Amino acid sequence: MKSQSIKELLLASPEGQRVVINGWVRTFRSNRFIALNDGSTINNIQCVVDFESLGEEVLKKIATGAAIKIQGNLVESQGRGQRVEIQVEDLFVHGTADPETYPIQHKKHSMEFLREQAHLRIRTNTFSAVMRVRSALAFAIHDYFQKNGFYYFHAPIITGSDAEGAGEMFKVSTLNPKAIPLTEEGEVDYKKDFFGKETNLTVSGQLEAEAYAMGLGKVYTFGPTFRAENSNTSRHLAEFWMIEPEMAFFDLKDNMDLAEDFIKGILSYILENCKEDLAFLDKRLHEEEKMKPMTERSEMGLLDRLNFVVNNKFIRISYTEAITILRNSKPNKKKKFQYPIEEWGADLQSEHERYLVEKHFKCPVILFDYPAKIKAFYMRLNEDGKTVRAMDILFPGIGEIVGGSQREERLEVLLEKIKDLEIDASELWWYLDLRKFGSAVHSGFGLGFERMVQFSTGMGNIRDVIPFPRTPQNAEF
Ligand code: 4AD
Ligand code: MG
Repeated sequence: MKSQSIKELLLASPEGQRVVINGWVRTFRSNRFIALNDGSTINNIQCVVDFESLGEEVLKKIATGAAIKIQGNLVESQGRGQRVEIQVEDLFVHGTADPETYPIQHKKHSMEFLREQAHLRIRTNTFSAVMRVRSALAFAIHDYFQKNGFYYFHAPIITGSDAEGAGEMFKVSTLNPKAIPLTEEGEVDYKKDFFGKETNLTVSGQLEAEAYAMGLGKVYTFGPTFRAENSNTSRHLAEFWMIEPEMAFFDLKDNMDLAEDFIKGILSYILENCKEDLAFLDKRLHEEEKMKPMTERSEMGLLDRLNFVVNNKFIRISYTEAITILRNSKPNKKKKFQYPIEEWGADLQSEHERYLVEKHFKCPVILFDYPAKIKAFYMRLNEDGKTVRAMDILFPGIGEIVGGSQREERLEVLLEKIKDLEIDASELWWYLDLRKFGSAVHSGFGLGFERMVQFSTGMGNIRDVIPFPRTPQNAEF
């Protein structure tokens, strides 16, 4: 007989029909009630066993964490707390779990402990809920773009270019580190390396996506991205996933409109399709907030936050306006910011971004027209000669969730910029070609997938929204 998922059975009408299910034991009470979960839903199904007929041997193996198969009849539940239950007729233990050594017992574990058990933490309610929402978000992202005329573009993972110019790249090389070949000048001789040139893991698929947008019109990437920045924060990973749409003939305003509509679209999708998981995560966050001091508690629950973003227009202000607000803000005047805002041109830190979003506007904010000096080389220069058509979207609890811009499509201006920044133009020959042949206004942005999952699930640490996080000094599993 074909087995069914617990999700299916919990929706079925109980008519005493024969069913088969597989799953992992969450709890086993009174030698009679098994709460079984198979990952298909946050909810367990109650399975009622007959102590006598099972026998001592089998009974001993039904411990928390054991994998079992159950055959029985789906009936209306006798007890309270569930609509249906299974009267077990036959039980097979795939594999037991020793209660002395199985780490995920039925009690509250700290997130830090669970990070060390990342291979088993998926068997908890919290992680399974987070990962189901993560999966739904990924689907919603593809769905949104596919329905809006975008093509999925696969950017290379190994590349020779440093798109963001931040130099935070992981090298890709097959050279023997104990015998690096050197040139006559004493530099590393990359000609002898696998690709015959210096290569790294991509920090962004944007430059290549630009090439494809200038042929397919509208494309998006959705892939792994690598940054060797030594940031041990709750919002940085060394390996994360980024979504980067790139659109020919879009200016900065079109770009902002798309980003806002896209974010609202994918959040609406999970509100509609992940109700039980979000309700669980909402409750979880509420419990967590109660542990915090009054002044640090968030006024909004998870569902409130998601609905708020979907239903409100994002505030759009220029960098210059933001600096004025920040300069006159209470924390700036009282020297509460770690990095006080003194003059125009200052790079915004996450404390400033969060002040704008959480204290001042209490709403997602799109900041645009940043100083050229603090942004990447490819952003389009404004007429004032000192700002670029950049836009960052700032979210409560997260800070920057999206970074994007209108791209510099004018060859001379781009060449000038490359020269100023001492970037090796010969490496970018193909990128410059895009400005020589059929160049046009175009724009795009990058959404950090894990930051979006964090926002969507209310998880405090980005390490808890990706299955096996990679961070400085940590690449276990
Ligand atoms: O602002 P960033 O660096 O922008 C780009 O890479 C552009 N090439 C995107 C584009 O225009 N196509 O990164 C985009 C987003 C950030 O806003 C943030 O959400 C996320 O990527 N991000 C990270 N997420 C997790 N860990 C990190 N270390 C991240 N660095 C950036
Ligand atoms: Mg950025």
